[in-house]
Formats: sequence, structure tokens, C-alpha cells
Amino acid sequence: MTVVRSMSGTTADRRAVIFLLRRLRSPEGQNNPQPVWHELRALGDVVPAPWGGYLVTGYDACTEVLRGKATWLAPDLAWQARQPNTERWQASATRAISRALFRLNPPVHTAQRRSLGNPFDRHALDSLAPRVAAHATRVVDRLAERIRHDGEADFVTLVGDRLPILTVGEWLGIPEHHHAHILDFTHRQVHSQELFPTKRELAISAQATADMREFFTGLIEERRADPGDDVVSRWIRYWDEQFPDDRAAADQTVYDLVMFITIASLETSATLMANAVWLLGRHTDRWQWLRRHQEHIDDAVEETLRYDPPVHFNTRIAADDTQLAGIPIAKDQMVHVMYGAAAHDPRRNQNPELFDITREGAHLSHMSFGGGIHYCLGAALARLEARTLLTELLRRFETLIPLTAPTYAPRMVFRRVTSLKVTT
Ligand code: HEM
Repeated sequence: MTVVRSMSGTTADRRAVIFLLRRLRSPEGQNNPQPVWHELRALGDVVPAPWGGYLVTGYDACTEVLRGKATWLAPDLAWQARQPNTERWQASATRAISRALFRLNPPVHTAQRRSLGNPFDRHALDSLAPRVAAHATRVVDRLAERIRHDGEADFVTLVGDRLPILTVGEWLGIPEHHHAHILDFTHRQVHSQELFPTKRELAISAQATADMREFFTGLIEERRADPGDDVVSRWIRYWDEQFPDDRAAADQTVYDLVMFITIASLETSATLMANAVWLLGRHTDRWQWLRRHQEHIDDAVEETLRYDPPVHFNTRIAADDTQLAGIPIAKDQMVHVMYGAAAHDPRRNQNPELFDITREGAHLSHMSFGGGIHYCLGAALARLEARTLLTELLRRFETLIPLTAPTYAPRMVFRRVTSLKVTT
């Protein structure tokens, strides 16, 4: 069921939306976005945004956008070329990231997605699981050691940021001495994907994009010189066959894939893990209940994904004049799917503000991995990492208590916890 409200976008509504979005980006909103989601939802399922787009807040309306592949398109390069704000949409960082899978539409998206198959199917996960467990043990060892020595430790730098890059780095065959550099450019690149990047942020992203280009181009050259049975070598072989007379096109496609899969896998997974420790650890009884009921670890991961999704917004554009939840939307207008607001829609999840590990149908209660043709390629891997890490943390620590609330990067689209101090 969707709420149909007449939202003509009055000045008062526009002011309210601007105020709410400012709050969402502020430290207060980053720490507790739920009241903002609640107030935005109260304005309607589809709320006109001051810059001409729409915020989609209701669960059903968000699902309709994600699944409606003919009606709702990714804002690709062709759409960007039609936008008057060239500073934003023609920025080098924006254009570079727009060649990545999540910004492609069929048929190019279909061809690239098909080429990947399901890299994290049951068989692949079974072989990755022991490696993820080994990485989890190693990072938790360091956490335990630091807590023993200093009485406290930063979960994010020692564990949350480390486990995803160890896992994906090894899967792609990227040696560990490159990991810090990859994390660094990933954190800097992401600005261009924000709703309103400033000039300064676009410049930071441009430099990060150049760093990424240099790094992944070098990686592809190395694999060409010394091909093996690794994932990147396999992608090179595949795309060489698709573009037998165009080596540059093959290289560009492999670059777009390896670059985006790497950066898409890092901050998202790190945020999920930091959120899980914050939400579980801050209530000692919750932590201890889960220690006794480890059969609910998967449910705890799903509830964390629902309660505070690592990605808060995804943008689509209308392929034609259309309607969403009764609101007319013109061709080319942007709609911003709000994953958090949707997962806290009381029509979908009862008592949405309650963090409830025993929530029924936990994996169906959110859309934090997206939906439709762009459904997250790495969802199964992210779940494996989170499950493995939680299992290890619960085994090792009777309590794991956050000393203060997490600190967050001031962002709206890709959430990032920058620090979470814990003790036992
Ligand atoms: C908790 C961790 C993660 C979250 C919350 C997450 C979330 C998402 C979301 C919401 C989308 C949809 C984007 C859109 O519709 O525009 C997406 C797409 C994607 N994700 Fe993830 N992700 C996570 C981890 C990963 C990992 C570990 C990988 C790779 C190893 C990955 C690779 C991708 C790729 C390649 C896409 C684009 C798929 C496409 O457009 O066809 N993600 N992810």
C-alpha cells in the first residue's frame, strides 16, 4: 500500500526538505538518521526535492523503482550529457565512475553483468569461507592485543576497514602492501557519488580517480604480462574475446569492472560490521543473548542491514513521463530511493525503531543490497564476512563495549563510520 499525497512542492515543503537533508548530513543526523527518515516519510512516499528530483521514502514505492527496469533507469552518461549542470555531471570523477556497472543500463549493463556470472555462488563461498575465517581471526587478534595493551581500541581501523580489503584483495590477487593505498583512494573517490558534491569535493574525487586509474591500469598490465587462473586474468581473457580487434576497449571494460567491484566492496562492508558492533555491543544483554543463541547471527546481520543500511540513497531517472505513488514524474527527472526510510516504513516493518534480532523474515525486511537488475553483486560475500566476523567476536569477547558513539564521515549516500572505540 502506498500513501498518495498531493505534493505540489510548496515553498514550505521545500524549506522543510532542505532543513531535513541538512540535518541528515550533520553529525546529529549521521548519529541518528531515523527521526529525519520519519519526518520525510510523513511528507509522503514521494517527496519533491528542491533541486527538481524526488525523494522516495515508502517501502513499496522504493521497491517499484528498483524493480521497474523499463521505467526507471540508472543516470548514465547519456542522461548526464543532457543535464545543464555541467560542473556536476561533466566532472571527470563523475564521468569516470559513471562507466561502472551501477550506472549502466541495458544492453551494456546486461552484457557486463552476464560476463561476471555469480562470482559468489555456494561453491565459491565454500572455498572463500576458510580464508575469510583466517582473516577474521587475524584482525580480531590485533583488536584483542590492542585492548589488552591500551584498555581500548578502534574497531574501524583494526577490524572493520581491514577485513573487507583482506578478503577482496586476496580474491583479486592484490598484494597486501597495496591495501592502504586502495582504502585511501576509495574514501576520497566516493564524494563524486554524493547528492551534492561541492567543487572542492569534486576536485578531491578527481585526484582519487587519477590514483585509481594509475593503480588498476598497472594491475591489468601486470596480469597481461603474467596471466594466471585468477579472477582478473579470467576477465581479461573474456573481454579480449569480446573485443578481438580492440585491445583498448577490452582493457577499459576490465578496468571498469575491477575498479568498481573493489571500491563497492570496501566501505559498505566496513560500515555493516561497525554498525553491527555498535548496535549489539552497546547493550551487554543483547551481546550475551547472541553469544548463547548463535543460530541468530544471520538474523543479527539482516537486522543491522535493515536498521542502518550502509547505503542510504540510490538514484534512478524516469525513462518517460510516468507516475510514482500517484505523483506525476516527468521524463529524465531523478528519483532518490531512500533505503533507510523504506526499511523503517511501519507499513512494512512493525516497530521499525526497535532493533529486533528476532524480527520475522529478517532478510525480507530491507532492501539494503538494492533490487532488480542492479542487485548487489557481492551481497553473499558481504553476508559471509559479517557472519564470520561476528562469530569470531562473540567467541572471543564476553562483552565488546563501545566507549562512545561511532563517528561518521559527513555524507548522505554512502555511509562511513570513521571511528568506533571499544573495550571489553
Ligand atoms: C554490506 C555490504 C554491501 C552493501 C550494503 C551493498 C549495497 C549495494 C547496493 C545498494 C547496490 C545497488 C546499487 C544500485 O542499484 O545503483 C549494490 C550494487 C553493487 N554492489 Fe554492493 N554492497 C555491499 C557489498 C558489496 C561487495 C562485497 C561487493 C563485491 C565484492 C559489491 C559489489 C557490488 C556491485 C558490483 C554492484 C553493482 C551491481 C549492478 O549494478 O549490476 N557490493 N551494492
